[in-house]
Amino acid sequence: MADDGIPRLEDLGDLNGRRVLVRCDFNVPLETTADGVRITDDLRIRAALPTIEWLQAAGASVVCASHLGRPSGHPDPAYSLDPVRARLAELAPGVELLENLRFDPGETANDPAFVDHLVAGVDAYVNDAFGASHRAHASVVGPPARVPSAMGRLLEREVDVLLGMRRRPKHPFVAVLGGAKVSDKLGVVEALLGIVDRLVIGGAMCFTFFAARGYPIGDSLFEPDLVDTCKRLLDEHPDTILLPSDTTGVDADGVYATFGVRLPDGAKGFDIGPGSAAEFGDVVMDARMVFWNGPMGMFEDERFAAGTRTVAQAMADTKAFTVVGGGDSAAALAAFRLDDEVDHVSTGGGASLELLELGDLPGLAALREGPHV
Ligand code: 3PG
Repeated sequence: MADDGIPRLEDLGDLNGRRVLVRCDFNVPLETTADGVRITDDLRIRAALPTIEWLQAAGASVVCASHLGRPSGHPDPAYSLDPVRARLAELAPGVELLENLRFDPGETANDPAFVDHLVAGVDAYVNDAFGASHRAHASVVGPPARVPSAMGRLLEREVDVLLGMRRRPKHPFVAVLGGAKVSDKLGVVEALLGIVDRLVIGGAMCFTFFAARGYPIGDSLFEPDLVDTCKRLLDEHPDTILLPSDTTGVDADGVYATFGVRLPDGAKGFDIGPGSAAEFGDVVMDARMVFWNGPMGMFEDERFAAGTRTVAQAMADTKAFTVVGGGDSAAALAAFRLDDEVDHVSTGGGASLELLELGDLPGLAALREGPHV
């Protein structure tokens, strides 16, 4: 049993000849090409292999289950798990994969009848779907109440690293947050402000903070409803929050330009500027622990990739313990080929933020509650 009262694979007892249902998060990015559908990043499939291989070595027959995308409760070929099944067969032969859990409305509704269906004929359940463990969906919270259950290796490592940051921070502890919206991150911002030494803010969300400071932001993206909240956060934590000191974007004529913190009429900011990138990089280099979630700018456009690339490089170069939240920042790191250079790349976007914010997730609570048979 892990420290937190959550059973581990070893707690499942003898699995020889047993059928084990493994909830995975195989919600991978897909691309449609002339040759068919292609997985653009198989990290989430590879990350499940230690658990699958451990179970197979213990003599279990493994049945994986996952959602993919957000189909509306009925079978939809666009969200078929076929491409995942093909990749899984290459990486872990002999593993069964059920069809997309969200093809049944009972999954998101946490319908007990759907849980019955999932656990029928199953001897044990393993949750290795960290990226989905913030969802109280049938396949995440239902089985632990019905069959002996445990967390898989991926889930165990995610919890260990992310809760470790909350419970045993090493100072200076720096969080770097980016992405488009403050509203997506408000909960984690408030929680991190109680723990970190510096909270570095980039991405389009910085413009809501700029507006709170009273800077003109041109036509940049911002959230008017959250300006007062950002003002309060800046007033309460003036020495912790670090905003960009310059930005890059396009002027009113759509021409690439570098700005300070005051953007002219019609201008749009799309990245932190070179001065801010250097400053953010220095803060990361001087830290002992860093959590990064969200790109610093629109890095898919090479003109606006410099800020994100500088932060990614600092994450790779610093001696600090480095953790990257899933989603866009993990994709950025992979695009810059730096994903092997950090200590931990989380497979969960929303889940990593929620775990840092609340210290627990519905999927973990279900495993803790048992019953532990
Ligand atoms: C994710 O991609 O963050 C997880 O797979 C959860 O997906 P969801 O946001 O559609 O529940």
